[in-house]
Amino acid sequence: MKTTEVDVFFADTRDHDCDEMVGQLGRDCMERLARITHPCRREQFILGRFLLRHALRHKHGTVAEGWILDAASGKPYLSGVGAPEISLSHSRELVACAIAPVAVGLDVEYCRERDFVALAEQICGPAELRHFLSLPVFERSLGFYRMWTLKEATFKLYGRDNVQPGNPMPLAFHASGLRYQYFWPGVDFFAALVARTDCTLCLKVHPPSSVRSK
Ligand SMILES: CC(C)(COP(=O)(O)OP(=O)(O)OC[C@H]1O[C@@H](n2cnc3c(N)ncnc32)[C@H](O)[C@@H]1OP(=O)(O)O)[C@@H](O)C(=O)NCCC(=O)NCCS
Repeated sequence: MKTTEVDVFFADTRDHDCDEMVGQLGRDCMERLARITHPCRREQFILGRFLLRHALRHKHGTVAEGWILDAASGKPYLSGVGAPEISLSHSRELVACAIAPVAVGLDVEYCRERDFVALAEQICGPAELRHFLSLPVFERSLGFYRMWTLKEATFKLYGRDNVQPGNPMPLAFHASGLRYQYFWPGVDFFAALVARTDCTLCLKVHPPSSVRSK
């Protein structure tokens, strides 16, 4: 059986001096950073860019000169010959980056108590909502984060809003040429990875990285 290998890398903002890293960012990134005011979000953005570079070096041995990061539309992608597909996500101190030979979407969420029923009512189609409400109360937290991360990861794969609140998930994932996998990237963090492939998904989740700025 053929497999599609997807690598997921993580880094923790608490282990990095993001202010010190800022000077190493390219002009495009600096322009985007200038529009981000929230301190935590700034750290996530900065570390995300360095984690991506770290991940590319780890996976491909180098960052090819012709690979250009473009994120003007929100969805980041690398253009250039042989460039892999990427997806970024952050939640609190955790920053994550997926690298794959096929289109991918990654979403990481910190799991906390919320009004899951009210949120589910906003993001589910009628059949999904019925299924969600049929879950025992103690399973609703996990049930909610499974739906949420899968919707967000699918949205990111497509990079456009075909997975909006209220729109049901494509239930026949396999038939639509997508595969997905859930995983726990840390205590109280939950994640979904979606890939466009007909092959078996082989997810390689790397331990948290210490990312160098140079
Ligand atoms: C854009 C969106 C997907 C970001 O997700 P999030 O959980 O808020 O934030 P995350 O940290 O996981 O992801 C942020 C990263 O996603 C990437 N991203 C942003 N817009 C994107 C898009 N349109 N497509 C793919 N990736 C995108 C960026 O890399 C961004 O990080 P950066 O700005 O530091 O580069 C989300 O805010 C959104 O708009 N979702 C629309 C669908 C929706 O309403 N979902 C609700 C549940 S169904």
